[in-house]
Amino acid sequence: MPVPSYIQDINVAKSAPPPVEKLKLEWVYGYRGKDSRNNLFILPTGELIYFIAAVVVLYNVDEQIQRHYTGHNDDIKSLSIHPDKITVATGQVAGHDRREEKPHIRIWNSLSLQTLHVIGLGHFDRAISCIAFSKADGGQHLCAIDEANEHIMSIWQWQRESKLVEVKSSTDTVLACEFHPSERNTIVSCGKGHINFWIWDRTGITKKSGIYEKYDKPRFVNCIAFASNGDVMSGDSNGNIVIWGRGTNKIVHVLPNVHEGTVFTICTSNDGVFLSGGKDRCVIKWDVNYRKLASAKIDEVFGSIRTFGRGPGSQIVIGTTKNNILTGSFETKWTPIVYGHVEELWGLATHPTLHQFITAGFDKNIFLWDALEHSVVWFKSLPESAHSAAFHPNGKIVIVGLCNGRWLALELSSQQIVSSHSDGNEQVECLAFSPDGNSLAIGSRDNMIYVYSVTEDGQKYSRIGRCIGHSSYITHVDWSADGQVLQSNSGDYEILFWNKGNCKQIATTSQLRDIDWATSNCTLGFNVCGIWPDGADGTDVNACCRAPRAHNLLASGDDFGNVNLFKYPCYQPRANCHTFVGHSSHVTNVQFVNDDSKLLSTGGKDTSILQWNVSI
Ligand SMILES: *[C@@H]1O[C@H](CO)[C@@H](O)[C@H](O)[C@H]1NC(C)=O
Repeated sequence: MPVPSYIQDINVAKSAPPPVEKLKLEWVYGYRGKDSRNNLFILPTGELIYFIAAVVVLYNVDEQIQRHYTGHNDDIKSLSIHPDKITVATGQVAGHDRREEKPHIRIWNSLSLQTLHVIGLGHFDRAISCIAFSKADGGQHLCAIDEANEHIMSIWQWQRESKLVEVKSSTDTVLACEFHPSERNTIVSCGKGHINFWIWDRTGITKKSGIYEKYDKPRFVNCIAFASNGDVMSGDSNGNIVIWGRGTNKIVHVLPNVHEGTVFTICTSNDGVFLSGGKDRCVIKWDVNYRKLASAKIDEVFGSIRTFGRGPGSQIVIGTTKNNILTGSFETKWTPIVYGHVEELWGLATHPTLHQFITAGFDKNIFLWDALEHSVVWFKSLPESAHSAAFHPNGKIVIVGLCNGRWLALELSSQQIVSSHSDGNEQVECLAFSPDGNSLAIGSRDNMIYVYSVTEDGQKYSRIGRCIGHSSYITHVDWSADGQVLQSNSGDYEILFWNKGNCKQIATTSQLRDIDWATSNCTLGFNVCGIWPDGADGTDVNACCRAPRAHNLLASGDDFGNVNLFKYPCYQPRANCHTFVGHSSHVTNVQFVNDDSKLLSTGGKDTSILQWNVSI
């Protein structure tokens, strides 16, 4: 690494303080409906409550305000609302190795966001996949199911943080558990090939499995609900709703083929009217006597119906398998209020002058978001999975790098593809325009950087050459402020420098020590080397970014789900930082908005986008 000439000597023992600025989670984009159920409710405050990654979102749609519960340190998998409608229980997966990151349940107050109890640390193995408060006894108990092989069901007196009983619930996947609303000792659970009725008292817990008799046993029983007379309803992969007699494990009635494919969810209300939703994207409203009152179908782009949230009034929200939340009614249309990516997300770029940003994911979706309105400006599907994105400095063109070596220039206003090129056939890892917009660098998985010259309007691209010299895939590039030199990092932790004009490597780095870099996306380099924690393996930090205006801050995203904020320059080894949680999987990208006031971060597998306010 060339050391800038203003550096006289470095005392490696010295410690660098963290910045005075901090990040505050302002907005969470996304919802986890793809592989998680029973996780969308409407609170008496009118707020929607749901989760994605390690954050529980409380979203007041009318006032456009979100609050966040951030007590978890890894993926949240389950959520239950206490009968008091204020207390919330959420369960998470096993995080990293530390004890406090073992799977556990947090019980908290949804008004104050105070954590009341943390239960189950050391008791659970893999994840709390289902959780339910009791109802008939005023909510004194909590039932939880561990995702590990035997799907241990445990019952807790949560206020005392004590486990009363546990039992193996099934060797197959368990998808839901619920306490009966009026029979205090009855719990129903269901999942792959089973529905079980549990009676639990001081002496123990006993199971009766549902008997299908002459009916075709479904491959999956997906959901449970309770009819107003106390009968149990289940929805299954045969598309049937099955009614089980109160207090029995016997079928009293079957509503056959109510949904094509699978019934994913049933949601009851006090008047006995209930809703069902399924793979077929249909929402059906039923009366107490199982007569269809109304039905509707949501648009294909949103996926299937995963779950319903119902408010005290007539409001209904729908969580979908493509991570959207919709609102509407049978009389009107169902329109999205929450959008999200559905697969791993890496591509992120912030607009050069506006508070807008692009995300592009493996799900082949590209979104333009507005960070002030917290809304989607537009979204579009791409021909291939995307891995990277960059704005032209004119703010009118965005480039998306795809996983097959192709890259596209899109015009923001029309969303049309104005240019399309391919460089090799491997993933486009990173993209960057020179500050004047006249050049574009494409860092590829095939170890090369392809350099293009660009017309003023950002519409036409012609290749100048290839920078050949890295022996591993290109992870990041930065341009010099004058657009003449490139620095690049690769998967084997090399830092190389290139002359843009001829694409030749610059071997004598001493002439580069005082170069002014336009950005600090490279995670390896003198001014950023302090972001590497002790014992880091070289791939632990996925991205970093310098505050573009004041150049005083450096943010990084790491494999532990953390977003970190450092002072820039950050050359003191193991510099101190502020660390912020919310993501559950690796943080794949971080970028400040143009005036340094906000930071965006993307979570890889957790598919979430978090927006942070930067302030003192
Ligand atoms: C820095 O990273 C962002 C996000 O991936 C990208 O949009 C931008 O083009 C990158 N800039 C440079 C110079 O690498």
